[in-house]
Amino acid sequence: MLQNIRKLQLTDVQRDGMRLAGRFNAQLMDYLRNYIRPGISTEEIDQLVFDYTQHHKHIPATLGYLGYTKSCCTSVNEIICHGIPGEYTLKEGDIVNVDVTSIVDGWHGDQSETFLIGHVGEEGRTVTQCAFDAMHRAIAALQPGCPVSVIGDNVVAEATARGFSVVREYVGHGLGRRFHQYPNIPHVPDRKSRQERLLPGMCFTVEPMINAGTRFTKLDTKDNWTVRTRDGRLSAQFEHTILMREDGPEILTQCINGPKRGHKF
Ligand code: MF3
Ligand code: CO
Ligand code: CO
Repeated sequence: MLQNIRKLQLTDVQRDGMRLAGRFNAQLMDYLRNYIRPGISTEEIDQLVFDYTQHHKHIPATLGYLGYTKSCCTSVNEIICHGIPGEYTLKEGDIVNVDVTSIVDGWHGDQSETFLIGHVGEEGRTVTQCAFDAMHRAIAALQPGCPVSVIGDNVVAEATARGFSVVREYVGHGLGRRFHQYPNIPHVPDRKSRQERLLPGMCFTVEPMINAGTRFTKLDTKDNWTVRTRDGRLSAQFEHTILMREDGPEILTQCINGPKRGHKF
């Protein structure tokens, strides 16, 4: 499909719209982190997302999106992404990715974090650390006009150095007025991502999914959403929304209380 690249280069006013969306989404994540501990069910996390967003008169972007019926995704242990909140109760030793997306005055903010529930085993901790470091390494490497593949190059380097694998079937994405738009942001470079460029004014996510074992995935045929590792081993993910500026990347979804680049889990 032919893309009008110039439309994706936001004006200063439009950038401020994205900043507000990212800031609200990060506030929501900071609110949630106080509750994410052993004994809470993923359904209760979803209810917190819905209530907080509604209270602030914004909209959970996933609600009704392509038939999805929840306000966030909660992906526990071997679930890679798109875990549907439900009866499952978090227990000591779990890792859980909570992915929230808000619509604020028509603009989208999208981010996720993997949380360690109490004391977590070595592999859960290291795969979470790897996903976090891979995301920040990729963001730090961004420069205006750089190829999209800079992201994949850095994610793959971080994962392979630690003996972990990178998911290919699910990717980052442009976002703005729409939740998912051009360009695709693969976390493993491909031919297209080596040609496409990240220009000033473009907004997109960086959201690597890192598996402890095989990179291969398995879609749950019962709900058609839940994506698991094919070998049942652990998977972790972090996500930020990024604005590319004339002078480099700006993270729009930085939490006040969340882990910062360099954090050790
Ligand atoms: N928030 C996810 C992303 O990072 C998308 C979730 S779509 C849903 O792109 F429908 F599964 F919620
Ligand atoms: Co996303
Ligand atoms: Co997301």
